[in-house]
Amino acid sequence: MLIITDQITIRLMQDNIDDYKLMEKWRTDEEVLKFYGGRDYPYFIEKVIETYQPRIRGEEGVTPCLFYYQNIAIGYLQYYSLNDLPETDRQMYRLESTDNVYAIDLFIGETNYWNQGIGTKVLTAVIEYIFTELQAVKIVIDPNVKNHRAIRCYEKCGFVKVKLLPSHELHEGKYQDCWLMAIARKKSLH
Ligand SMILES: CC(C)(COP(=O)(O)OP(=O)(O)OC[C@H]1O[C@@H](n2cnc3c(N)ncnc32)[C@H](O)[C@@H]1OP(=O)(O)O)[C@@H](O)C(=O)NCCC(=O)NCCS
Repeated sequence: MLIITDQITIRLMQDNIDDYKLMEKWRTDEEVLKFYGGRDYPYFIEKVIETYQPRIRGEEGVTPCLFYYQNIAIGYLQYYSLNDLPETDRQMYRLESTDNVYAIDLFIGETNYWNQGIGTKVLTAVIEYIFTELQAVKIVIDPNVKNHRAIRCYEKCGFVKVKLLPSHELHEGKYQDCWLMAIARKKSLH
């Protein structure tokens, strides 16, 4: 288990059909796809396995996790060190240094759990984990500029908008602008 708080549990995604089916359920839901992946690009089971199995096996430097709210599996998150990304992907963040910089992507796949502060709780727990356990100096996240709920959630967690990333993400047939948002580790007093 990665993280357990009073209501949230975050664990590594497993190489088994139950986890793949959860992912298929979420990544074929039109409401989720509108904000994550695109309605023109649902992930059915074969695509889910093709995409997530290499991550689960540690072949891509991306750590895939499922999270639970009060013991109900509700969503997915992944984190990765920018230095583990292929050069072209890393350059898309337009940062001077990517040393000890991590990125997070997430979605709540059970849409009836949106807007209840759960995303903020999950992200806050992951931020704490990445700073303390992985010695990150900075964490970035890159929401679509039109995804106001995600941006608000990230601001509540302490992320600030750093710069606009023009045409950063191909979403539903168009290259769309995103915000690069970042949070820095608090300087230790010691
Ligand atoms: C983004 C996501 C993880 C946030 O989690 P969440 O639990 O819904 O977020 P929270 O409830 O913690 O916070 C959302 C905030 O946005 C606000 N909000 C909701 N809709 C909004 C809108 N259209 N415009 C502005 N703010 C909005 C909420 O009121 C809340 O702020 P408040 O606490 O000040 O009232 C979740 O909504 C989700 O998975 N969405 C679909 C996929 C997605 O967008 N993933 C992120 C891709 S970058």
